[in-house]
Amino acid sequence: PLISSTEMLQIAKTNHYAVCAFNIHSFEMLQAVAEAAAETSSPIIIQTSINTVKYLGLNYLVAAAAAASENTGIPITLHLDHCTDFDMIVRCIRAGYTSVMIDASMHPFEENVRQTRKIVEIASAGGVNVEAELGNVGNASEDSLPGVEGLELADPEACKLFVESTRVATLAPAIGTVHGITRQHPEIDFARIGQIAENVDAPLVLHGGSSIHAAHLRKAVELGIAKVNVATELRVAFSEAIRQVFSSRPEENDPRRYMNAAKEAVKRLAIEKMEICGCIGKA
Ligand code: G3H
Ligand code: ZN
Repeated sequence: PLISSTEMLQIAKTNHYAVCAFNIHSFEMLQAVAEAAAETSSPIIIQTSINTVKYLGLNYLVAAAAAASENTGIPITLHLDHCTDFDMIVRCIRAGYTSVMIDASMHPFEENVRQTRKIVEIASAGGVNVEAELGNVGNASEDSLPGVEGLELADPEACKLFVESTRVATLAPAIGTVHGITRQHPEIDFARIGQIAENVDAPLVLHGGSSIHAAHLRKAVELGIAKVNVATELRVAFSEAIRQVFSSRPEENDPRRYMNAAKEAVKRLAIEKMEICGCIGKA
């Protein structure tokens, strides 16, 4: 079945491992990450941005995630990533998403609290997990250095107040990571992760899982990160595999063949991330 991630992430936090949350952009990617979880008996969160919901279709997505869980025997959380749109969140919950992220981190603290609280009220009635962000996880642009510059990191005291005022189940504090692939590994503020984990019981989420050095990721997980988001690396691997098929066999015209190569690449990468996060065998 599709399950809320609240309990799964609390168990992960207590036991010092993290659940991988993979962004998917196609049904093949959904199959690939579900197979990775099944093969390694790992818990898994499958997440989509709003644009992916628009591209693949809400009902298709819920049905495919439910089928993946049924076929693999692994409980799956279907999560809506970075959403600023209240109506979209409600639609996803109604359609069967079991976790949602309200991202009001670009607003002042009080407004972030207000919006998050509103979503917590709506979601908790149906046992749906809620994630919110505090501070600012940057975006890597083509030429940007990993610069922590311009990033507004989450204040540990503010995190405590935020979780108390919103009762949000999972918190994504900005701790120095950036979205996308950066030329150097971003500088993570490990001390800050430790302080935040001490201040709040809510499992912590790390955004921008693609650019992080494996050892840094492991350390962040030990300190209290219980959910690790990975998006860019997966779609790059997926696309690169297809590119390779066509460069060696330009006449290839069977989607089952080139998609299979892409699925295998995503599956391998997903298993690597699960190993780093320590969630293998924890399903
Ligand atoms: O919300 C999604 C993630 O934070 C993914 O970040 O593209 O750097 O892996 P990424
Ligand atoms: Zn993110």
